[in-house]
Amino acid sequence: MKYKSANEAKATFDDVYHAATPHAYFNEMDRHQYEIGEQAKPYFLAAIKHLQAANQGKLPPRLLDLGCSYGVGSALVKYNCTYPELSEFFHEEAPLNHQTCAASTRDWLQPRDAHPDLECIGLDCSEEALSFAEDAGLLCSTIARNFEESEEPDSTERSIMRNCNLLTSTGAIGYVGEKTLSVILKQLGKAYPENAAPFVVVTILRMFDPRPVQNCFESFRYRFEKVPGVCLRQRHFADEQEQEQTIDLIRRRGLDPAGLESEGTLYADLYVGSAPSDFLALFAAIANVKP
Ligand SMILES: C[S@@+](CC[C@H](N)C(=O)[O-])C[C@H]1O[C@@H](n2cnc3c(N)ncnc32)[C@H](O)[C@@H]1O
Repeated sequence: MKYKSANEAKATFDDVYHAATPHAYFNEMDRHQYEIGEQAKPYFLAAIKHLQAANQGKLPPRLLDLGCSYGVGSALVKYNCTYPELSEFFHEEAPLNHQTCAASTRDWLQPRDAHPDLECIGLDCSEEALSFAEDAGLLCSTIARNFEESEEPDSTERSIMRNCNLLTSTGAIGYVGEKTLSVILKQLGKAYPENAAPFVVVTILRMFDPRPVQNCFESFRYRFEKVPGVCLRQRHFADEQEQEQTIDLIRRRGLDPAGLESEGTLYADLYVGSAPSDFLALFAAIANVKP
């Protein structure tokens, strides 16, 4: 894993990724003003709209959220929630027990379904988070795997990935890299080779070298590029040490942290990928988003 040493600069949140309900996750993310999902949302919505237009509505958009955690991406995009609404719900209303929490989340979400035709599928190494997301109706199917550990997908998991036509990810690349992406890209969208797609829209923290990921996409014959001028807030630094080490990595990449990481916030770049023949139209749809 090429990101192992860069990851050592980052604060760890493993405990909150593996709880039975999202309460601790939202507490921790609130503490650090985590907002990358909401920052990326308009670009994901633009990709969904473009996908529907490119396929003339013949196929439902099937979004595979890599590192989906408790299905937060689905809550933001499919159910049109905001982070503050989600946090307030989990702080003030949602019960602590898994089953009752999942049931009340399901009831709370149902009237908010802004994209009934959008199917959200999640891949994460946290079985607990995925189990909650599925029980709460946030994800319609899930893949609980750590492909960084050389696990292999089974036939059901391969079929799920083959039927997905949009890959999204926020806050996960770095934890996952070429190994996981290779497993996904071998399958993604293969059930419908005659359709436009699969499309890819992902965020990558500026502290990480994107070249291993870029090379991986290119080895699967994708065109994969950064969207210039888009720099998205991820979260506040956990402490001064994390900030100093991150800034050091950023300078070593030849980037300038002034006005960005030096002000106390981690920033991510936005990347778009697709088959070369589909790329320019997808790129234009994303680059034209006015957040
Ligand atoms: C910062 S959270 C991002 C959650 C969500 N995408 C968001 O932006 O709100 C990172 C997620 O990556 C997952 N993760 C970490 N290592 C992973 C791996 N090797 N394979 C799959 N998921 C992993 C964690 O369980 C966690 O849910």
